[in-house]
Amino acid sequence: MGIFVVFEGPDGSGKSTACQAVYDHYRAQGLRVLHSREPGGTPIGEMIRQILLDPKNKAMGLRTEALLYAASRAQHVEEKIRPFLEEGGLVLSERYVFSSLVYQGMARGLGLEGVQAINDFAIQGVKADLTLYLDPGEASSFHRILDRDLDRLELEGEDFNQGVRAHYMVLAQQKRNEMTFIDATLPKDQVAQACIDAIEEKRREKK
Ligand code: TYD
Repeated sequence: MGIFVVFEGPDGSGKSTACQAVYDHYRAQGLRVLHSREPGGTPIGEMIRQILLDPKNKAMGLRTEALLYAASRAQHVEEKIRPFLEEGGLVLSERYVFSSLVYQGMARGLGLEGVQAINDFAIQGVKADLTLYLDPGEASSFHRILDRDLDRLELEGEDFNQGVRAHYMVLAQQKRNEMTFIDATLPKDQVAQACIDAIEEKRREKK
């Protein structure tokens, strides 16, 4: 069985950059690595992503939204993550179940229980071995995404994003055995190194 690593954090916390650097590091070592993201990660998942992020979809209900994230995740697990892990690969995913717990369960107020339940159904027991929480610090990381066209969720603005960070901190505290805190205010190479160090520790543990 391979290792499943998830990168979590608010929008603009540098997940994509860190994940790409970690991917390059392990690829250079010749490891089998998958770099993926949610919502998305598969052709069906990417279509669901478009529905979720489309600024026109203002009428979308909170439960619809939560179920669409879970649906994208179910397809991601079935088509990509589980087969890859079964072949002994290293899976790196930008976002997974914790994103739904934070955004849908906490920030949108649907509650953790229901959101956990639909996700348990979606993932069929495929849990992350390691979740890296990239914390953007007190200062807003929102400026990092202000120079491009915003999607439906980014249009929510800075207050929402700050709330998301606070919810992540609460969840990281509650689930401290499952989440590893990474200070994402550090320079990029140090953030990537901190991620690699945590993954190396997990790899030694799993041997
Ligand atoms: P993402 O592409 O990771 O955005 P960013 O690169 O800006 O962090 O995620 C898109 C949006 O989807 C983001 O605002 C977070 C949201 N999201 C949820 O609300 N629930 C989820 O389960 C997931 C995976 C994402």
